[in-house]
Amino acid sequence: MSGHGTPIPMSSHRADPLTGVAEVPGDKSISHRSLILGAMAVGETKISGLLEGDDVLDTAKAMQAFGAEVVNHGGGNWSVHGVGVGGFAEPEQVIDCGNSGTGVRLIMGCMATSPISVTFTGDASLNGRPMARVTDPLALFGAKTVGRKGGRLPMTIVGAPEPTPVRYVVPVPSAQVKSAVLLAGLNVPGQTVVIEKEATRDHSERMLAGFGAEITVEDSDEGRVITLTGQPELKPQEIAVPRDPSSAAFPVCAALITPGSDVLVPGIGLNPTRAGLFYTLQDMGADLTFENMREEGGEPVADLRAKYSPDMKGIAVPPERAASMIDEYPVLAVVASFATGKTMMAGVKELRVKESDRIDAMARGLRANGLTVDEGEDWWSVEGLGPDGVPGGGTCESFLDHRIAMSFMVMGMGAKNPVTVDDGNPITTSFPIFEPLMTGLGAKLSKG
Ligand code: S3P
Repeated sequence: MSGHGTPIPMSSHRADPLTGVAEVPGDKSISHRSLILGAMAVGETKISGLLEGDDVLDTAKAMQAFGAEVVNHGGGNWSVHGVGVGGFAEPEQVIDCGNSGTGVRLIMGCMATSPISVTFTGDASLNGRPMARVTDPLALFGAKTVGRKGGRLPMTIVGAPEPTPVRYVVPVPSAQVKSAVLLAGLNVPGQTVVIEKEATRDHSERMLAGFGAEITVEDSDEGRVITLTGQPELKPQEIAVPRDPSSAAFPVCAALITPGSDVLVPGIGLNPTRAGLFYTLQDMGADLTFENMREEGGEPVADLRAKYSPDMKGIAVPPERAASMIDEYPVLAVVASFATGKTMMAGVKELRVKESDRIDAMARGLRANGLTVDEGEDWWSVEGLGPDGVPGGGTCESFLDHRIAMSFMVMGMGAKNPVTVDDGNPITTSFPIFEPLMTGLGAKLSKG
């Protein structure tokens, strides 16, 4: 759905000690892929633990528009009756992906090698984001695109009637671009090869293999070489979506900066392509431990225990870790505000083209709350004010960006004065139960 309705300001007041168990919702990346791959399989895929945030619900609607039968059975249980690779019908209406870059880019990929034409749009945030990074490789398959200036949505893609396979080196570290090319390659005879110089989240590779596609991954001098054999028959799956490490980041970071806190966040995937934040927090001296380490569905999983950590130090975050924590820099910057000394975050140009320009959005909000922030095109740094030193009291713009809104709500929990965002509505895109979950732990959030 485009837009998030009338803006509703949201404030976070200094919290009581945060305690208890924080059961965060299903992983957003895996939820999108479950619906999309389910729609491309033959037969019924059953999904439990689906994230029912706006982003994923928009993808569910889109899959229905392409002819798949998507049913919500309640309680996070969904089923998708797929139409098979190459079986997508041409939607009658414009596909509205709301706020979701993952939704629109992956769906563009999976329709681009079928002989159908589809028009995509989104909210003001999504319609400002670059799509050429996806439409450029899709053009190599033979798809044609007409969009707005700068490769922006709304945009129509005319799928290639006779697609030919592609060998593509992804020029930016982006799992969305990688995944769009792989999904396009599904409906192409022969082998599609995608090479990424830096490893990004690998859910598409793992799930394509799970659905029965022939896919190999090899490390070479060029990078990670992913080879997909086209035109498989994807077999329906039963998928239990793991909890989202990117959502877990919020209760974890809130506990670290709120005096007296001790929070358990159970069942969080520690897939190395996603877990960079947790190692960074440990490097800063956070009291964050991984309990009950185990394997689930071939992925490492742990219960995270986060306790108030007044002794954290600012660090230089290793740039090579950026892809594994790209969505977590906003909330890391909040933690850095409560650490002693400077935290330097480099190699993070991609933050400028997320749901908002996240370096700019965070820098403005942090400054409004008494912090000193420096920034360049590819880096930014925050001067920590120590465990009891963050004044707060500022109002920040959330720029239609869920992670900006949630990060500033976390900041308010440990700051001396309340922190306000002009609009809390975007939070429902990825973490619809954020408010009751955080309030249940001891947070003091107010609206209006
Ligand atoms: C995602 C990839 C990342 C990430 C986004 C989810 C995915 O985006 O920021 O939240 O599910 O593939 P990029 O591909 O733009 O890095």
